[in-house]
This record gives sequence, structure tokens and C-alpha cells, in this order.
Amino acid sequence: MIIATQNLASLYWRPICESLNSIKIFTQLLQVRTMPKTKVRINSAVIGFLLFASLVGGILIPGQMALSAEINIYSHRQKFLIEPFLEEFKERTGIKVNVVYASKGLAQRLQSEGEASPADVVLTVDIGRLKIYSDKGLFQSVNSKLLNSSIPEHLRSEDNTWFGFSKRSRVIAVSTERVTPNSIRRIEDLASPEWKGRICTRPGSHVYNRALLSSIIAANGEKEAENWATAFVSNLARRPQGNDRAQLKAISVGQCDVAIINHYYYGKLVNSEDAAQREWVKNVSIIFPNQEAEDRGAHINISGGGIAKYSQNVKEAVKFLEFLVSPEAQSLYANINYEYPVIEGIALPDTLTVWGEFKEDTVPIETIADLSPKTQMIIDRTRW
Ligand SMILES: [Fe+2]
Repeated sequence: MIIATQNLASLYWRPICESLNSIKIFTQLLQVRTMPKTKVRINSAVIGFLLFASLVGGILIPGQMALSAEINIYSHRQKFLIEPFLEEFKERTGIKVNVVYASKGLAQRLQSEGEASPADVVLTVDIGRLKIYSDKGLFQSVNSKLLNSSIPEHLRSEDNTWFGFSKRSRVIAVSTERVTPNSIRRIEDLASPEWKGRICTRPGSHVYNRALLSSIIAANGEKEAENWATAFVSNLARRPQGNDRAQLKAISVGQCDVAIINHYYYGKLVNSEDAAQREWVKNVSIIFPNQEAEDRGAHINISGGGIAKYSQNVKEAVKFLEFLVSPEAQSLYANINYEYPVIEGIALPDTLTVWGEFKEDTVPIETIADLSPKTQMIIDRTRW
């Protein structure tokens, strides 16, 4: 009898719960459609009607009233990279994803939207940018065994607010025509007078370079790092300028012989559809520094993300982050943008395997973030 009562209750409760969920999703959809979210007032008569319609629909034609779940992503990552992930995710889960793409300003937007923000997930690159979200309290802590077991500890935050989903190494690009093989083995070697007037770089205060210098502080201490930065800047062939691709172009046209770049730019240019860009790397090779047995390995940064503090779709948002560490998603990072997966055992494209394996600096990426203010002072003092 008790069993019969429970069955009867569940028969009526399930459609009621589904209907209430449908209304919740419907109101969220209204809010998403009006990004940035404006408060949508639905009076009690409308709610009453929706409840009645949903109940009738839920009971008479169960399932038909249920709207599929959606999440909203604020992405600093570009559309060409993100779209294949979204297609795969929707195919797997049925969850639709809406994305706001912007190269900058999303942290300020999230902050000003506050509790009314429609954002569920934030995706960005570089620990420096993740740290901005984390410092402003724009992420929430995520409880996911899968994320914690998949992502190495040094590539995620201690408080589970942000996670690294792919790796990038800051490497040394050299002219194959003007630089003797093996003449540079460590990032520290770029301070040698041998390279006077021969190095190109983007400005030191760019997050990529700031993280690199932080890794040198973590390894050698502040004083040594400042000495290195001073000597490095004195070796520059020109004022720091341009992005990483521009440094490769500068090597190709003979403005300098050596540059610091993120490894995937080399991959992008080697495989570029633009013949001129392929030319920029024709006589350039890549050195992963600090590879000797006793050395720390090449500096590693991450692309990563977290769940927005006021996400209204936490369950679905966690599913999305967990999807990003699946073998399929990890393979997309490697194949679309030549980034390294954070999990082991992913087949890499030829562009990445041609370099062979390399040793990575495993200093916690959070340490790199914490050193950032001190690092910036050194960058200012050395005018990098
Ligand atoms: Fe980049």
C-alpha cells in the first residue's frame, strides 16, 4: 500500500516538478534573450496561466513541454576555436550554448551585471586573465571530482574556482640561418652579451611575458630575475612591440635573430593558408628552454575558465567544464589551435609531435599569478 501511494505521488509530482522547471527555464530564456540581463517582470496572472498550461501539458503530453537546458558563456577565446567544442557538447548532452565573444571587457561586464548576469561559464587564456576574475570574486567554487582528478594540481586553483584546460609553452624562436644550433639552452641564456642587438619581443607587461618573468622569479629569486630582465632588455634589437606573430615576421625579415613566442603561433604560421605567413617561419626553429636533466623545464601557461559566481545553471555549467577535459575536447585543443592537452594520452597532430617531448616547469600556475604584482614592478623598472 505504501508502495502504491509513493507511485501515485510520483505520478503527479513528476509532471508538476517538470512544469515548474519549464517555467524556470522559460524565465531564464527571457532573461538571456535580453543580454545584458534586464529584470523581466512576469505578473502573477501570466505565471498562473503558464503553470496551468504547463501542468495540463505536462500531464497530458509528458515531456513535450520540457525545454532543453541552455548555458551562457562569456569567452575571450575566439569563435573559430570554441564552435567545434559547442557542437560536440550539444551533440553529447542536448544542452545548447550561447556565447558572448570579446577580446576584452568581459570581467568588467560580469562585475557590473552582478547577480543579474546571465553568464554561466567564463573562458579565457593565461593565468594573468583568470586571476583578474578570481581576484574580483567573479567565479564560484566548483565541486567536481572529475575536474580535480583530470587536471594536474599545479594547473588549477587551490579553491576550485578556476581550471586549466590546455597548456601553452613560452619558447624561443631562432633564425636557422643566423643562430648556431644549441647556442641557446636556457631562457637565462638570453641575458648573455652574445645576443646584444639580436632579440625581438612584445612588451614585457603583456600577460604572456609577465608570466614568463614570474616563472624566472619562482626559480631564481627576485634579484636574479631583475638582473636577467635588465640584461635581456639591453640585448633587444628594437623597442618591445607587436604580438608574437610579429616577432616571427621580424626574424624572417632579418630585424632580429631570436624571439620569445608562445609555441602554438609557430604551429599556426606553419599551417597558415596565407603563403606570406608560412614564409615567416620558413627559416625559424623552436627551442624549448631549460631541458637539461637537473633543470626546471620550459615555462607553461594555461587556457582555462570557471563558473560565474551568479550562474543559474550550475549543473549544466559543470557538465560543460567536465566536457572540456574529455579526450574529444582535449584533442580539439591540440588539433585546432596546437595547444597541449592537460590530460595524458591524447594523440597530437604532426605539428606538435615533430618537436618531440619536452620537460615542463611544474611550478604551480597559482604561484605565477601571485608573483604578478612584483613581476610588473621589475618590468616597469627594466622598461621591458
Ligand atoms: Fe595567444
